[in-house]
Amino acid sequence: MRLADKRILLGISGGIAAYKSAELVRRLKDQGAEVRVVMTRSAKEFITPLTLQAVSGHPVADSLLDPAAEAGMGHIELAKWADLILIAPASANLMARMAAGMADELLTTLCLATPAQVALAPAMNQQMYLNAATQANLKTLASRGILLWGPDSGSQACGDVGPGRMLDPLALVERCCQQLAVEPLLAGVTLLLTAGPTREALDPVRYISNHSSGKMGYAIARAAREAGADVTLVSGPVALATPQGVERIDVESAQQMHQAVMSRVGACDLFIGCAAVADYRPAQVAPQKIKKSGDNDQMTLALVKNPDIIAAVGALAEKPFTVGFAAETVDVEQYALDKLRRKRLDMIAANDVSQAGQGFNADDNALAVFWQGGQATLPLADKLTLARHLVALIAHHYRS
Ligand code: C5P
Repeated sequence: MRLADKRILLGISGGIAAYKSAELVRRLKDQGAEVRVVMTRSAKEFITPLTLQAVSGHPVADSLLDPAAEAGMGHIELAKWADLILIAPASANLMARMAAGMADELLTTLCLATPAQVALAPAMNQQMYLNAATQANLKTLASRGILLWGPDSGSQACGDVGPGRMLDPLALVERCCQQLAVEPLLAGVTLLLTAGPTREALDPVRYISNHSSGKMGYAIARAAREAGADVTLVSGPVALATPQGVERIDVESAQQMHQAVMSRVGACDLFIGCAAVADYRPAQVAPQKIKKSGDNDQMTLALVKNPDIIAAVGALAEKPFTVGFAAETVDVEQYALDKLRRKRLDMIAANDVSQAGQGFNADDNALAVFWQGGQATLPLADKLTLARHLVALIAHHYRS
């Protein structure tokens, strides 16, 4: 499965080769890719959206002005979702519109709005392909970094012979694999990772917790797995699916998380503490639900300190390469560097949770990463993209 978990947005424009697009979706999925399909108006003259919906397992997107689609995965989300946009077949007309920078329908708009690589599989009559206008458009697109895969030469549906045949689905899958290949930067490395919040019980029905969604930790687990690591994820309560190939151990409280980590840390090369562990827990857990009483307008809770899990890992005589997180609202760098030293970390990733749209619960984040004698800034991006960059940075320092 060379495309496991890769997100490929397949654009289909109007050309006879569109009949091969359904096969292409099947072959991409064989390799583990998640595929979503976007069709142009004219593509639907050649193949039905129903066919593509059936093979991809998702409704086909085709309109920029569809309120229902925009309420679900809107066009900007779709543009951000993709790891790769592949347009197959790419017609002469579509390429002309792209070369002109038009956003006249969903597919051309996505190409402008995406941070992902765009690849085109041109398919058209050989005379249209060789036309100076088409060749000029291809040159323009290539100069902007758009990949051109094909075309092949040979006999065409119209009876002509020459360049303009779309590459076969399997050849396109191979190009996708090469394009999205992840370097196995963490091959052979055992990673232990904490993620999510902890819950500190007050009584059988109530607890103290925090706003962590676990999204950043889960994205790191997935990115590390993609990079070849053997990943164990110790997770607080979150509403997220376990990334493929990752072993997950569910815990609730900080004490349980501490125990789960300390019993496994001896066997790991790399430890990442991404969990938002509650610093304190109620001194006593009431055996029955605490009742409110008529004469008590106030209530005082006695709290005791929880174990600092990452500091305990940092204090080990034979400690793994240890990476912590710092969620701060002010003086981010100063607090992060202080934590790096105090907890004996090898690296710390700090996020400024006072910024709207990043950090806790958000889908996007930005990180400032510090280590002894250096730092790097990972700018605002979706958490999976950010996690992949962070994993590459960690791998580099772990190996050096
Ligand atoms: O001190 P602070 O909680 O801000 O430090 C954050 C870092 O320490 C994170 O990596 C977090 O996972 C870890 N931590 C921990 N155990 C605690 C508190 C924080 O492992 N009790």
